[in-house]
Amino acid sequence: METLGSSLRFFIFITLLSTEAELSRSADTITLSQPIRDNETLVSAGAKFELGFFSPGNSSNRYVGIWFYNIPVKTIVWVANRDVPINGSSGVLQIGTGGNLVIINEAGRAVWSTSTVNVTSGNVAAQLLDSGNLVLINENINDSENFLWQSFDHPFDTLLAGMKLGWDLRIGLNRNLTSWRDSDDPSTGDVTYAVELQGLPQKFLRRNASVIQRSGPWEGIQFSGVPMNPNAIIKPEFVTTAQEVYYTYQLNNNSTITRAVLNHSGTLQRWVWNNNTQWTDIHDLPNDSCDEYAKCGPNAVCTIGDALICSCLTGYTPKLPQEWAVHVWPGGCVKKKPLNCPKGEGFQKLKGVKVPDMLSYWVNTSTSLDECRAKCLKNCTCTAYTNADIVGKGSGCLLWYGDLLDIRKLIESSGNQNVFIRVMASDLGNPKWKLRLVAAVVTASLSLAILMLICFWRRRTKKRVGTISKPQAGSEDDLELPILDLEDITKATNSFSSLNKIGEGGFGPVYKGLMSDGVQIAVKRLSQNSRQGCDEFKNEVLLIARLQHRNLVKLLGCCIDGEERVLVYEYMPNGSLDSLIFGNRAGNSLVWRRRFNIIVGVARGLLYLHRDSRLRIIHRDLKASNVLLDSEMNPKISDFGMARAFGGDQFLEKTKRVVGTYGYMSPEYAIDGIFSTKSDVFSFGVLVLEIISGRKNREFHHYDHNFNLLGHAWKLWLQGETIEFIDEQMEDSFPISEVMRCIQIGLLCVQQSPEQRPTMSSVLLMLDSESASLPQPKQPGFYTERINDKIDSENSELTITIVEGR
Ligand SMILES: *[C@@H]1O[C@H](CO)[C@@H](O)[C@H](O)[C@H]1NC(C)=O
Ligand SMILES: *[C@@H]1O[C@H](CO)[C@@H](O)[C@H](O)[C@H]1NC(C)=O
Ligand SMILES: *[C@@H]1O[C@H](CO)[C@@H](O)[C@H](O)[C@H]1NC(C)=O
Ligand SMILES: *[C@@H]1O[C@H](CO)[C@@H](O)[C@H](O)[C@H]1NC(C)=O
Ligand SMILES: *[C@@H]1O[C@H](CO)[C@@H](O)[C@H](O)[C@H]1NC(C)=O
Ligand SMILES: *[C@@H]1O[C@H](CO)[C@@H](O)[C@H](O)[C@H]1NC(C)=O
Ligand SMILES: *[C@@H]1O[C@H](CO)[C@@H](O)[C@H](O)[C@H]1NC(C)=O
Ligand SMILES: *[C@@H]1O[C@H](CO)[C@@H](O)[C@H](O)[C@H]1NC(C)=O
Ligand SMILES: *[C@@H]1O[C@H](CO)[C@@H](O)[C@H](O)[C@H]1NC(C)=O
Ligand SMILES: *[C@@H]1O[C@H](CO)[C@@H](O)[C@H](O)[C@H]1NC(C)=O
Ligand SMILES: *[C@@H]1O[C@H](CO)[C@@H](O)[C@H](O)[C@H]1NC(C)=O
Ligand SMILES: *[C@@H]1O[C@H](CO)[C@@H](O)[C@H](O)[C@H]1NC(C)=O
Repeated sequence: METLGSSLRFFIFITLLSTEAELSRSADTITLSQPIRDNETLVSAGAKFELGFFSPGNSSNRYVGIWFYNIPVKTIVWVANRDVPINGSSGVLQIGTGGNLVIINEAGRAVWSTSTVNVTSGNVAAQLLDSGNLVLINENINDSENFLWQSFDHPFDTLLAGMKLGWDLRIGLNRNLTSWRDSDDPSTGDVTYAVELQGLPQKFLRRNASVIQRSGPWEGIQFSGVPMNPNAIIKPEFVTTAQEVYYTYQLNNNSTITRAVLNHSGTLQRWVWNNNTQWTDIHDLPNDSCDEYAKCGPNAVCTIGDALICSCLTGYTPKLPQEWAVHVWPGGCVKKKPLNCPKGEGFQKLKGVKVPDMLSYWVNTSTSLDECRAKCLKNCTCTAYTNADIVGKGSGCLLWYGDLLDIRKLIESSGNQNVFIRVMASDLGNPKWKLRLVAAVVTASLSLAILMLICFWRRRTKKRVGTISKPQAGSEDDLELPILDLEDITKATNSFSSLNKIGEGGFGPVYKGLMSDGVQIAVKRLSQNSRQGCDEFKNEVLLIARLQHRNLVKLLGCCIDGEERVLVYEYMPNGSLDSLIFGNRAGNSLVWRRRFNIIVGVARGLLYLHRDSRLRIIHRDLKASNVLLDSEMNPKISDFGMARAFGGDQFLEKTKRVVGTYGYMSPEYAIDGIFSTKSDVFSFGVLVLEIISGRKNREFHHYDHNFNLLGHAWKLWLQGETIEFIDEQMEDSFPISEVMRCIQIGLLCVQQSPEQRPTMSSVLLMLDSESASLPQPKQPGFYTERINDKIDSENSELTITIVEGR
């Protein structure tokens, strides 16, 4: 290869020496008197590119082209006469009339010309620059910017650094890439790559008229659908002015040799010259199947890595379910039912997606996101909105009307653009939850719709300081949380009357409320000792609102007014678990089936918090009074995320404030302040044992010994008398093996060492399978006899805060 390079240079050397004329001209320029013939070439001043005649592949046709000079593989980057080849080796490239560059064939006829140049005074020269650009200059005018003509304005199939793809609107010039017809034939192929100006400009890769791939609009730092690699070798730029709209890129390191090529199979390939060995293809477009234009049809999202690559947007259902079932996606999705316009809708946030194609749209770069939302809400046919530019806090407004096409989920780290999809208020919840609890949802969604309406109405009627911020980047797809007016909450709870108080949770009292429309709510008035700022509070509440699972109590809204911070939850008619299992000891106790369902439900909710919610929430205060029961006695965990929101440094493994309740706290947490998901597992174990025995861990007394409930269970386990542990109030017939199994699981969860406790997912596996053999539990935490019962007699439900003496 090195020999080839030096022989080329030798050839140039010979060329220069061969005639007097050659000596007098620089090797990168064609002048009127010095044309180049088939056996001659130009080399740019820095020896980067070479221009000359060549024959591609097996063809014998001759073309004038430009290729890299300093690499041994002849790589064509531009062809002048792509559609009009020359036959034989007698072609000449010269300056013709008016200063145009022309190619003359063997018969002496011009087969190709730059044709637009008309210089009447002065000499025109063609020069090959180090960028790979062939330019025509007037030798009498020193203008290195405005060329008479340049090959960069007439791209071939290759985009080099500094080339522009797009429009010069002043002269109507549209620079686009067009593939070769095939590998032997550089004539104009079917595949094009161009900037199109419909709506916000986007790059389109097409074969004939049909789109192969769409870049999405430029969002300030990258194209919506083409995530930028921070370590990329190129720096993409997009310029939009009244005169020009184009894409270009610069090199991060000028010594990189790279090109983007449109191949005739319909792929844009990014190649990099790998030192002195070969070209390496480092990126293709389309890159994966979600890049294929409209892969999932209208109103669906394409997600790489999901079991089903296509999924309908919320509120939409497959148009052709039979096809969809066999993974034929292009039919896309249609609305389940028409939106109840203009009432009862909200927006669901899709985070980190390529924005839909601009089929029917409205765009304005100076509208704010709030105005954008309001504008979308006003028009029934508006289906989604987003901000046009994501730089900084985001600006501009883009609305869609009708179908939403070609949405894809971007890989986690690269997605910055959020699209807000209009949905029915009833769709703002969790669909699975909805299936199970239709009745509950009707109530919840009704109240949500009303709350949201109140919220919108408030927003429109008066500018309020306390409106909720946009959901923060880094959160998962979700809705915005309605913000409520303190006046309405106060009215609903009779001014937080003590008659309405239904409990005292870890972070403040809870009141029952009745909205003016008859919807029941539970209102938690947060104690005012939180030092958190308003924004922090809102962010945390939004995080909590995004945790949605049928075993978690649903947060409906919140209210911030001065110092007052209030959370509004769905109302749970059956109250909390503690009143059921410890309450009326003589009355109707829970049957085993119910108890078991509650255990499994709590386990599922906890598993969701630990593993599936993406946020990895540790509850830190799981206890019987924090498990609420809906009208069908399904358990729902409440107060989740509160520790995170109000417990301070939630990311530190060791926390200075210990938030929790005696009796449920794991030893490592209560003593050292170290918490992990395993601390929740401990609390869960306590809860399981309480549910089975009907006794409170902390208030447990036995005439035989001074152990707490855990100690009691352990003692019976060792003595093989576990059956005595079971609540005597329970009905007579129950599957004894299942109950024993649950006791064993409870004991496994409260083991002293956090490492030995199972994770919530293995707990669920153990609960689910009748057959699997369980490990033998080891000694539980807090297995020491109590010396003094004084502390124990305090109200065990009081949440305590220990400030560590460090
Ligand atoms: C190129 O070919 C022409 C005739 O076509 C000849 O006059 C000239 O010497 C050749 N130059 C070289 C460098 O071979
Ligand atoms: C040229 O033709 C030969 C034989 O017909 C074939 O093996 C080779 O692949 C062809 N090369 C190109 C670039 O088409
Ligand atoms: C090319 O030249 C050869 C011989 O000079 C001739 O037979 C052939 O027809 C020519 N082809 C074209 C396309 O002009
Ligand atoms: C070139 O410009 C001159 C004077 O501006 C004009 O007379 C002539 O027609 C032009 N030629 C062409 C081919 O446009
Ligand atoms: C162009 O600039 C060069 C050097 O910058 C100078 O030598 C030359 O005279 C200039 N030509 C004209 C026509 O201004
Ligand atoms: C590419 O550019 C040419 C010349 O400006 C234009 O005629 C053609 O329509 C463009 N193609 C596309 C797909 O934009
Ligand atoms: C593209 O259009 C050309 C000319 O109309 C046609 O010959 C070719 O078959 C088309 N290609 C495809 C893939 O449709
Ligand atoms: C550019 O690349 C060359 C060769 O890979 C390397 O030696 C040089 O350090 C790089 N320069 C910068 C600024 O990264
Ligand atoms: C690369 O070269 C261009 C033009 O020569 C120059 O403007 C730019 O500063 C160079 N970039 C680096 C990183 O050296
Ligand atoms: C075009 O690029 C794709 C992806 O790299 C490749 O699979 C295909 O073979 C290429 N086609 C041609 C003709 O080079
Ligand atoms: C290419 O790599 C070899 C060693 O692998 C090194 O000696 C040589 O200098 C490199 N060339 C360039 C242009 O970086
Ligand atoms: C809603 O938007 C569509 C599409 O722009 C428009 O045709 C229609 O007139 C608008 N309706 C209202 C009520 O503004």
